[in-house]
Amino acid sequence: MSNDENHRNKKSIVIYFSRADENYAVGYIDKGNTEVIAEYISELTNADMFKVEPANPYSKDYDTCIQEAEERQSKHDAPITKCLPDLKNYEVIYIGSPVYWNIMPEEMVTALKEIDFNDKVIRLFVTHEGSGLGEIPEQIKNICRGAEVLDGLTIRGALVNTSKDKVINWIKK
Ligand SMILES: Cc1cc2nc3c(=O)[nH]c(=O)nc-3n(C[C@H](O)[C@H](O)[C@H](O)COP(=O)(O)O)c2cc1C
Repeated sequence: MSNDENHRNKKSIVIYFSRADENYAVGYIDKGNTEVIAEYISELTNADMFKVEPANPYSKDYDTCIQEAEERQSKHDAPITKCLPDLKNYEVIYIGSPVYWNIMPEEMVTALKEIDFNDKVIRLFVTHEGSGLGEIPEQIKNICRGAEVLDGLTIRGALVNTSKDKVINWIKK
């Protein structure tokens, strides 16, 4: 069986964070870049989806948002509206995040740190505007102890709408 069939046959979920509003490269958007990729993955793999929502929404304005993000990361203070579902029935966990100051938004840390990832397979995908994966793989390995973290996918935020082929090829790996 190819990896493609392997991954498609396994029960999977896409856990992601994404923010609409004023974006780094593309102005105001109705749907965040990472959400576009999360939807491609769900459509291609039949995965369930779970969006991590901040209890305190970030400002719509980009410059204010980046300050809020840095403060939340430095204080490790970012409550979320809803905890992750029980992952026991999922074998493959897709984790999607934008790069915020080279790491994940603190809300992703809040969401992931409560969960037992032992024996899970994590497939990481990241949208960014130049940093690639940044330090997110190391961050994930630290938080999601016991999981096997496979090679991550990086997509430029400004190019998500033309990146479906890249997602298709990565899913087959
Ligand atoms: C608070 C904040 C911090 C960011 N920091 C980085 C960064 O360190 N490196 C980078 O390449 N892009 C950075 N970006 C750009 C985002 O990673 C990029 O626009 C991403 O696609 C946003 O995803 P989203 O629309 O799903 O939220 C930052 C954006 C924001 C809002």
